[in-house]
Amino acid sequence: INNGLASTPPMGWNDWNKYGCSISDSLVRKQADAMVSSGMQAAGYKYINIDDCWETSSRDSSGNLVADPNKFPNGIKAVADYVHSKGLKLGIYNDAGTKTCAGYPGMYGHEQQDANQYASWGIDYIKVDWCNTSGLNAQTQYTNIHNALANTGRAIVFSLCSWGQGSPWLWGASIAHLWRTTGDISDNWSSMINNFDSNSAHASYAGPGGWNDPDMLEVGNGGMSATEYQTHFSLWAISAAPLITGTDLTNMSASTKSILTNSDVIAVDQDALGIQGTKVSDSNGLQVWSKKLQSTNTVAVVLLNRNSSASNITVNWSSVGLSGSASVRDLWSHSNVGTFSNSYTANVAGHGVVMLTIAASGSTGGGGSFDPNAHYKLV
Ligand code: GLA
Repeated sequence: INNGLASTPPMGWNDWNKYGCSISDSLVRKQADAMVSSGMQAAGYKYINIDDCWETSSRDSSGNLVADPNKFPNGIKAVADYVHSKGLKLGIYNDAGTKTCAGYPGMYGHEQQDANQYASWGIDYIKVDWCNTSGLNAQTQYTNIHNALANTGRAIVFSLCSWGQGSPWLWGASIAHLWRTTGDISDNWSSMINNFDSNSAHASYAGPGGWNDPDMLEVGNGGMSATEYQTHFSLWAISAAPLITGTDLTNMSASTKSILTNSDVIAVDQDALGIQGTKVSDSNGLQVWSKKLQSTNTVAVVLLNRNSSASNITVNWSSVGLSGSASVRDLWSHSNVGTFSNSYTANVAGHGVVMLTIAASGSTGGGGSFDPNAHYKLV
C-alpha cells in the first residue's frame, strides 16, 4: 500500500530467528534498548517485532486475545509504551487461519476484534502468517484483515506471510506493505541463497509501499561465515528487501554490527526509487546483479561469487546501461576506487560479494552516459 508507511523497505528486529518461542517482556525491552545504544536506530532500524508464541492458548470469555502472563506480565500495551518511549515502533504477529504456526489463537473469524485490540495497544506493524488456513483463499482472507486494520484508523504496517502461497506479488501491493515470497530462512548459505533466488523472480512487482520479502536476516546468528553474512546483507539490499534483523542486538560482534550498520549498503536498500535489482549476467556462478538508483545515472551493482574459491568478476557497463567512463565506489571498503571505461573487474572471495555504486555522470559521475532502461533485462 503506497500510503507513506513503507515508502522504503521496513527496517527493524524480530525475535523469531534467534529466540523462537523463548520470548518475554524483558527480552523485548532489552532489544529495544540495544537497538538505540548499538547505533542500529541511528542506522535506520525502527521496528521491534514480537513473533509467534506471545499469546495464551485460548481467548478470554469476551473472545479477546490474551498475552501469556508468564512471558508478558505487564501485557502488550506496556511493552508498546516502552518501545515508543525509545522512539521505536512495536510489531506483533498473528495468523490468518484458526491458529498460529505454533498453535496459538489465530485471527480467523475475529479479524475486526483483533485489529481493534492491536490498535488499542499501540501496535505499529503486524506480520500475519498462513498456518491452519485449510480451505481459505489467501487474497480473500488477507483482504479481510487489511480491511479490519484500515477500519481501526491506526497506521499499521501490514506484512503478509503466506510463503508465496496464493502468489501475493500479484495482488499484495493493494492491501499490504510486504509479502513473503519464500519458505522460512535457515541460518546457512544454501537456504539464504535459495530464498534470494526465489524472491528475485518477482522483482517487477516490488516498489514503494509494496515489497517482496525473502524473510528475515540471519546475520550474526552463527551459521554462516562473516563473508557469507556480508553477502546475505548485500543481496537483501540490492533486492530492496525488508531489513528485519534476527540476532541478539545486546551482544553483536564488531563484524555483525559493521555489516548491519553499513550505511552505504543500507542506502542502496532504502533508495527512494524502490527498484528491486535483477541479475544481468551469470558465468558459471559468477554473477552480476544491478539496481538502478535515484541519483542521476547511477546503478548499484553486486558482483556475486556463488562458488567456493575466489575469482575475478567483471561488470560490463553495457550490461547495466552505462557507457563511456564512470566512477566506481566500493560499498564495503567505503572508498571511491576511481573512474573506469566500459567495465570494472574485482577479485571476489568464494561465497563473497563486491558491492559497488557506479555513476556515469552528474556530480559524482565520470562523464559517461546511461540508458535507464537497459539494465532491466533479465538474463
Ligand atoms: C512461520 C513463519 C515464520 C515464523 C513462524 C512462527 O513458519 O514463516 O517466519 O513466524 O511461523 O511460528
